[in-house]
Amino acid sequence: MNPSEQINQLRAGVIGTGFIGPVHIEALRRLGVQVVALCDVPSIVQSMAAKHGIPQTFTDYKTMLQSPDVDVVHIAAPNRFHSEMSVAALKAGKHCICEKPLAMDTRETAQIVKLAKSSGTVFAVNYNVRFYPAVLALRKMVARGDLGQIIHVNGTYFQDWLFKETDYNWRLLPQEGGKLRAVADIGTHWMDTASFILGAKIKSVFAELDTFHKTRKRPLGEVQTYAKADASMKYATYKVETEDFASLLLRFDNGTFGNLAVSQVAAGRKNCIRLEVYGSKKSAAWCSEEPETLRFGNRDGANEVAVRGTPAFGDGPAGYVDYPAGHVEGFPDTFKMHFRSVYGRIVSGGKGERLHATAEDGHQEVAVCEAIMRSNAKKGWVKV
Ligand SMILES: NC(=O)c1ccc[n+]([C@@H]2O[C@H](COP(=O)([O-])OP(=O)(O)OC[C@H]3O[C@@H](n4cnc5c(N)ncnc54)[C@H](O)[C@@H]3O)[C@@H](O)[C@H]2O)c1
Repeated sequence: MNPSEQINQLRAGVIGTGFIGPVHIEALRRLGVQVVALCDVPSIVQSMAAKHGIPQTFTDYKTMLQSPDVDVVHIAAPNRFHSEMSVAALKAGKHCICEKPLAMDTRETAQIVKLAKSSGTVFAVNYNVRFYPAVLALRKMVARGDLGQIIHVNGTYFQDWLFKETDYNWRLLPQEGGKLRAVADIGTHWMDTASFILGAKIKSVFAELDTFHKTRKRPLGEVQTYAKADASMKYATYKVETEDFASLLLRFDNGTFGNLAVSQVAAGRKNCIRLEVYGSKKSAAWCSEEPETLRFGNRDGANEVAVRGTPAFGDGPAGYVDYPAGHVEGFPDTFKMHFRSVYGRIVSGGKGERLHATAEDGHQEVAVCEAIMRSNAKKGWVKV
């Protein structure tokens, strides 16, 4: 059997079917993986399984993990469940892809790292931004020295879905999402992507965090991720303990300097990740709102715009794009390509280049989050 045929033999079980669980299901199916099991709370699991045509349903993830029919577990439940679910999946001998952030704190992530090392299975954290073709292209250009020595990186991750005081989601509550919100939820995507491109880890941080909505109104009853308020909703006011935005200075272990702004109250920015890399030969810039374009900046010659599929874009994404140039690959495709990479490692027994984020990478991002909280409290540089 060739690797694609072997991937088609693997069977996945997905835990959590809110916003991102269905993105996993769709990407798995486009890859040819069988999605055999779904686990969610009793009120929705049957209807979601019927909607997605998934044969087996579970309301307790531990029971799903006992099923010999499930080879790979996808954890797409809220952050506070990631640790116990990852630990149980590893102990059950399953391959696992856990959503980000890996867990609530480094005590939890360290335990996952330890188990993942001794498990003999593949464990990945779903830092899917790595799999935009432009990000894979940039990584290769930096590694090859095309931009020269990297001087600094700059960027933003901005959203506006928590812009209004009536916007509500479990992420706003520290006991559900963790003590950091915007930084852990989306900032870690940017930091993981920058580390992936540079081949370097963040070693120290200087952070300023702030909360625009000191209090917010919580709808009485549960609300889906990205749901908008309607006039008939009733609300209870609560005090907000997580940040709406952050300004971060970063120092990477290869000496590169970085600065990043993160916001979930940036009107008009729906889901905008922007990253610029400044080298001693030239600079490169990418933005997820124009995912298939790389812009290069030159001091003397004309600036350049490279579109995916053309020579200037390079061969970095080879094997991780399926459509011809001009047929845009975006957010859902990054999941498909991430899973291609992870499932490829599963069928090859861990051979070939590893592109996905490991438990160690997930642990590192949570360690950076903790350093950011210490820096914000101290108002100074803090080591990770
Ligand atoms: N990689 C990405 O781009 C990306 C995007 C969005 C969300 N996420 C991550 O995915 C996770 C889920 O986020 P979401 O926005 O889909 O949340 P959501 O609230 O929309 O969905 C969560 C789902 O998990 C279910 N659930 C809750 N407790 C459960 C339990 N004990 N067992 C089984 N199911 C349970 C809920 O009923 C719900 O269906 C988060 O960790 C988030 O950070 C990642």
